[in-house]
Amino acid sequence: DWLIGDIAEEMIAQLKDELKGENVICGLSGGVDSSVVAAILHKAIGERLHCIFVDNGLLRENEREGVEKTFCGHFSVNLRVVDWSEQFLSGLEGVTDPQKKRKIIGAEFIEAFKSEAEKIENAKFLAQGTLYPDVIESGSKDGNLAANIKLHHNVGGLPEELGFGLVEPLRDLFKDEVRLLGEYLGLPEDMVWRHPFPGPGLAVRIIGDITKEKLRIVRQADEILIDEIKAAGLYRKCSQTLAVLLPVKNVGVMGDDRSYESVIAIRSVDTSDFMTADFSRIPYDTLGIISNRIINEVRGVNRVVYDISSKPPATIEWE
Ligand code: XMP
Repeated sequence: DWLIGDIAEEMIAQLKDELKGENVICGLSGGVDSSVVAAILHKAIGERLHCIFVDNGLLRENEREGVEKTFCGHFSVNLRVVDWSEQFLSGLEGVTDPQKKRKIIGAEFIEAFKSEAEKIENAKFLAQGTLYPDVIESGSKDGNLAANIKLHHNVGGLPEELGFGLVEPLRDLFKDEVRLLGEYLGLPEDMVWRHPFPGPGLAVRIIGDITKEKLRIVRQADEILIDEIKAAGLYRKCSQTLAVLLPVKNVGVMGDDRSYESVIAIRSVDTSDFMTADFSRIPYDTLGIISNRIINEVRGVNRVVYDISSKPPATIEWE
């Protein structure tokens, strides 16, 4: 720990020096990397850090509130929340193709981010949570093929488009070091150990077209799933856990009646690099609790299945 403390203090001193008098914009996603970037920059430049969080309407339960609480409450960071959810949802209306969803979300994100960034005066720098593995990946010529199978929209091209200089304080660090740094900086445990969540959010966890009703279903299922995985003490053991709403209805019984409702697929993987992954060996009893709770508590769901595929060939997300 003394080591990460030394590294952190050195990073803070360096950022202070490099960014003397400068205003910096940082896009917060709620994920580990951008949260750590914001926390360290806040230590270095205080109120000259301006964070932007885009609510795309595709977030998990309490995600936006969690970011607001941590960064406004705990750290008193300058934070602007852009609620662009109606624009995202109307852009996505009727869209079923996964890559098309990602393109639309990527484009809307740039619009939303830009609209807010333009209001911040005298900012010439944009901070990003690039990690060492990202640096190696984009340096190699064919990149990381498997990673490119799904179009990652993570603010690619944004700094150039807006004419910003880049600040990437985490570019020498691996993920586990970033988590240690986050802990050192006092970020809540919840945030530091969070599973990755894709930029396109719940949009790629609803197979087929997206509606508010489907978002409600997948959001509630996700919340129950994560609650129970945490309650079982499995959250840190699993690398990523998620719920997917399938585009099929199935028959069930409800009292004396026949029901015809949706299926939720649970996916949880163990992996060290997200390039290959094995399904998590969640105990049957835990799976049983998750299934019962989702079926009882989430209106519109009458069946839960567990995805036991490994990657490859199955990817972690279903879209
Ligand atoms: P796959 O599904 O390709 O996912 O096995 C590997 C990791 O990448 C995440 N993922 C994304 N992250 N934008 C992101 O920011 C995306 O479009 C995207 N697609 C997948 C996925 O959650 C997993 O952690």
